[in-house]
Amino acid sequence: MDKILILDFGSQTTQLIGRRIRDMGVYTEIIPGDSALAPEPGPDVRGIILSGSPESVYAGGAAPDKKVYDCGLPLLGICYGLQRMTVDLGGTVEALPGREYGRIGVTVAEGGSGLAARFLEGFRPSFTAWMSHGDTLTKLAPGFREAGVSDTGYPAVLVHGEKPWFGVQFHPEVTHTEGGNEILSAFVFGVCACKAGWTMEHYVEETRASLNERIGKSPVLLLVSGGVDSTVAGALLLKTLQSDQVHLMYMDTGLMRKDETKTVKASLEKLGAKRLHIVHCEGEFLEALKGLCEPEAKRRAIGDLFITIQEREVLRLGLPEHYFLAQGTLYTDLIESGRGVGNKARLIKSHHNVGSPLVDAKRKAGRLIEPLDKLYKDEVRRLGRFLGVNEEVVRRHPFPGPGLGVRILGEVTGEKCGILREADAIYIEELKRRTDGEGRSLYDAIWQAFAVLLPIRSVGVAGDERKYGWVLALRAITSSDGMTADVYPFQIKDLLEISTRITNTVKDIGRVTYDISSKPPATIEWE
Ligand code: XMP
Repeated sequence: MDKILILDFGSQTTQLIGRRIRDMGVYTEIIPGDSALAPEPGPDVRGIILSGSPESVYAGGAAPDKKVYDCGLPLLGICYGLQRMTVDLGGTVEALPGREYGRIGVTVAEGGSGLAARFLEGFRPSFTAWMSHGDTLTKLAPGFREAGVSDTGYPAVLVHGEKPWFGVQFHPEVTHTEGGNEILSAFVFGVCACKAGWTMEHYVEETRASLNERIGKSPVLLLVSGGVDSTVAGALLLKTLQSDQVHLMYMDTGLMRKDETKTVKASLEKLGAKRLHIVHCEGEFLEALKGLCEPEAKRRAIGDLFITIQEREVLRLGLPEHYFLAQGTLYTDLIESGRGVGNKARLIKSHHNVGSPLVDAKRKAGRLIEPLDKLYKDEVRRLGRFLGVNEEVVRRHPFPGPGLGVRILGEVTGEKCGILREADAIYIEELKRRTDGEGRSLYDAIWQAFAVLLPIRSVGVAGDERKYGWVLALRAITSSDGMTADVYPFQIKDLLEISTRITNTVKDIGRVTYDISSKPPATIEWE
């Protein structure tokens, strides 16, 4: 399958480049910008993109393996990537007196032949582009010519006279750039001649073949959380292997949403699960959380107990030594979420499995299966639908591993879990049945919504009586990846009606507030 390799120099938008190209049906792989391309980039690679970076080429910015310039493959430098190519190939880059930041016009000259013409076909004669750079090219590398210029007078589009080398000073991957997709498409299809082979059918076929080959008749244990990722991973295993080979383990920690265990059980059974092990351990978790108020102490207690119970229960299953362990790790869980290159720690899902000795041991033994590790979240949702996973599960908002444990501020008790579960369920149900101006359900328009139980009680009246009830905060945010978030701008009528229904139904809640903090500076969760 044709593939575009993306060298990541740490730009916030590198992920987006990958997403845009995958949406065109071409597989992309993102690797650290300074990775060795030994012995060569790989037989399926049709082109290489050098990403942007928060660094300057002269101050700490990483450089690619020099092979990138000898391998004969088409190259596209984006922002820092273009400056990097310029410096590596004999041009110069200097600091701008100001910065080019935000929407800036670009004009593209006509002309060129061969691959350059095919690349330039992707550009409108003039368009608005999104820029974000403090350096500019002051001398082009030999063989390059300026095919487009920004309204501020700096080189914006470069093509090489002989080699299949191209560069843009702006970010075609962001939606603020007009016609950005056509530019990427001109590179991917026009220049690299990729065939669009990245389809769900193809992915499923290929993954099933490799799972069958790797696992054979051995048992597999998948740790399911009830979220989209692990459920889709389960569906893939169940549609690939014999159902009695697939062991699914789910822990009901008592910190789950309302009816979560029922929903998980029903959706996995519908997918053909026969060996579903539900571990009821609510009592153990509440015991471990007794008296703990500090968020990190609570998280640690939950994480540690999770590991203890997991190991105990896995032993209890009595699986043979050679069993495989599977988890629903996504592509984005594996690649760096911070910035810069060279220090790309493998990020394990910030889930229950963080640092789990069981996962580590299986990884070392080559018996860890991560069948979604090439996919982005929205691709996992598409795969889920393709495999017949319940729509309710596929559309589900993210839920943190420690669950209600970090949404009940202060000490967690069984009673508080019950109160929060009820209030949260009402909130979510209301979001699912209300629509926005475009006819979408509020639940689908919002990236993540949940209720938080505050450790405060306030005075109110109910009938003629004084009521002393808990305060509930509602949170609803829009985001693309959870790294940053904006507050969802509800119509006030929706908030008022939701608040009324909660306080009328959940008698222990006396007051409802709406959290209007973006991330940063706040985080999405409260603890
Ligand atoms: P924050 O609160 O860090 O959340 O802005 C970002 C996203 O991550 C989720 N989250 C977690 N997910 N284990 C998880 O699996 C955790 O410990 C955890 N903490 C936060 C959060 O719900 C949001 O989607």
